[in-house]
Amino acid sequence: MDTITLIQRFLGYFGGGGEQLRIFTSPGRVNLIGEHTDYNGGFVFPAALTLATRIVARPRNDNIIKLIATDLEKMVETDLNNLSAYKNLKWGNYQLGVADELMKAGFNIRGCDLMYDDKVPLGSGLSSSAAIEVATAIALVSLGDEAYGKTKEIDMIEMALISQKAEHNYVGVMCGIMDQFASAMGKKDHAIFLDCKDLSYEHVPIMLDGYSLVIGNTNKKRSLGEGKYNERRAQCEAGLEILREVFPKADCLRDISVMDYEEYKSMLRDDIIKKRVEHIIYENQRVLDSVKALKEGNLELFGKLMNQSHNSLRDLYEVTGIELDTLVDEARKIDGVLGSRMTGAGFGGCTVNLVANKSIDEFILKVGKAYKEKIGYEASFYISDIGDGGRELGRR
Ligand code: GLA
Repeated sequence: MDTITLIQRFLGYFGGGGEQLRIFTSPGRVNLIGEHTDYNGGFVFPAALTLATRIVARPRNDNIIKLIATDLEKMVETDLNNLSAYKNLKWGNYQLGVADELMKAGFNIRGCDLMYDDKVPLGSGLSSSAAIEVATAIALVSLGDEAYGKTKEIDMIEMALISQKAEHNYVGVMCGIMDQFASAMGKKDHAIFLDCKDLSYEHVPIMLDGYSLVIGNTNKKRSLGEGKYNERRAQCEAGLEILREVFPKADCLRDISVMDYEEYKSMLRDDIIKKRVEHIIYENQRVLDSVKALKEGNLELFGKLMNQSHNSLRDLYEVTGIELDTLVDEARKIDGVLGSRMTGAGFGGCTVNLVANKSIDEFILKVGKAYKEKIGYEASFYISDIGDGGRELGRR
């Protein structure tokens, strides 16, 4: 939707007059490698997409926040003084969770009208929720304090952390920081090599020389995912507790190296816990190896690491499922595909594939056909363009 149409839609919902309109955006992300490592203090390697949420926003002179989305014509109206009353909203809880967490953190939040135009496919594992949260955070702090954008800069890492809290406290998913960080801190044509232990990061240029990252969407929504996600997190914590007997200084699984793990893995007697921990330990190493491989232009090695990552998520972490595995298996049959893996939390959602440009058409055709035959409904494909992180787009 172009900006003029977007603004007309806003005026249609909320009427004209009042203060200037402001437009904010924040993107979804694809994670290249490093899955489920973030809440274990580990390494991740996501990139922001050009698929994003946009918000048209206008301050009000009362304490009311009104929310609407271009694809959902139901208006949600809330009182800023009573935000916790809206925790169980079906749509709107991400936004109000962010407002609540911003207020708890001491930000001045004004009443406002907000219209969302979400272009990250919902429930697809491309962080549609982080895009909404981070865009909301930027919009609310910008409207609450005029100095932002003029003399003061928004601390984007703080926005990511506040958005993550909203997800914990309002949505109930005990997610790591990867998605919100990638949405807030993305950079065009770069992936973010992030150390989730101390949030140090590096933007790594993605130069794929004749290859592209193609996203395959299973179109299976992650409905049961949330419970299983929190369960995986608890299993990792249980594994860490056991290993802390020999590594008392380790405060997350990332502090245990592959060598240390191999020496002491027999301490993990519960097979499930052992599999979960093993995935995390080796996945952290794969992120380090992938960053190095990409910096050296070794796409073949990066592709192999992607494949290993998926296999480990399938066999050890057990978060794939028939839809993701089918997309990956079919992708790997195509000449010119160097690597294929699930991306995001799993249990449905998307895969990311490193595909030779000349093979993309064949890839989409053949993988799409085989998927439909086996699963019974269509997959969708997108060429992933890596874009910038959250920001204000302009005023009208
Ligand atoms: C979801 C979470 C992230 C991360 C991934 C798995 O996207 O929001 O924090 O844990 O799953 O890597």
